[in-house]
Amino acid sequence: MNTLSILYIFLFYVAMIALVAGIINKLLQYKRVPAPLKIAVTPAPLTKPGVVYRFFTEVVLFNSLFRATKWTWIFSFLFHASLLLAFFRHLRYVISPDSFIWPLVNNLVVQSFGHYAGFTMLIGLLGLLARRIFVDRVRYISSPSDYLMLLLILGIAGSGLSIVYVSHTDIVQLKAFIMGLFYFDWQNLPSDTLLLAHVTMVLFLALIFPVSKLLHAPGLFMAPTRYQLDNPREKRHLSEWGAELEKDGRNS
Ligand code: HEM
Repeated sequence: MNTLSILYIFLFYVAMIALVAGIINKLLQYKRVPAPLKIAVTPAPLTKPGVVYRFFTEVVLFNSLFRATKWTWIFSFLFHASLLLAFFRHLRYVISPDSFIWPLVNNLVVQSFGHYAGFTMLIGLLGLLARRIFVDRVRYISSPSDYLMLLLILGIAGSGLSIVYVSHTDIVQLKAFIMGLFYFDWQNLPSDTLLLAHVTMVLFLALIFPVSKLLHAPGLFMAPTRYQLDNPREKRHLSEWGAELEKDGRNS
């Protein structure tokens, strides 16, 4: 096996461990932070099924963003929907042709939607970047990391499309490399520049994900403003530590 492949095998494991451990650590941290007040953003649901419905419309339709600003919603929705389609297209690199889900992934619909999603992803990202650059109040509150994330994902989408249109890679060898990572049966990684650029940016994204603004994806589910019920009159709100204090008689 060549040195480059050994380096990338190492980088893949490091990045994946950092990604998974980092996200779990952050979510546990969010879970530990007490929510002493009722801070549900109103109009908020009165029942638990209402909370589920609220999350559904937030996650699938980006409801509150739609109410806030239509242009940002259009570009943001376009980007995230494209990301999902590209994800489905990439599944063919990690699913064996013998698996029963292979036909669900390797068919014309998933593969062509997933491919054209590369272009719509670029449009969405360029729109979001233009918003940061040209809208005064957004530019004022933008930090370098806001731009870095957009440029990084633009780089990933751009290099991905270039693999298709500029210079192909050896997909069979790439798949052997990826499957080898799962089964600890390590194989060479194709060494063409565009693939290496694509994969290196993806690994960097995975490394920084747990300490970046992209944590909003799993973090949304831990937000009291979204998961709390609007029932302060029916039920007194007490955080866990508030209840402990009260039990000990230290809160009266
Ligand atoms: C280790 C993870 C990844 C590997 C091995 C990988 C590999 C590839 C390859 C080989 C292609 C060319 C497809 C072809 O020739 O048919 C591609 C395309 C692409 N990739 Fe990735 N990719 C990875 C992760 C990602 C991620 C995380 C994103 C998005 C943020 C992404 C976005 C794209 C896009 C937009 C395209 C062009 C659309 C298409 O698939 O035709 N990739 N990727």
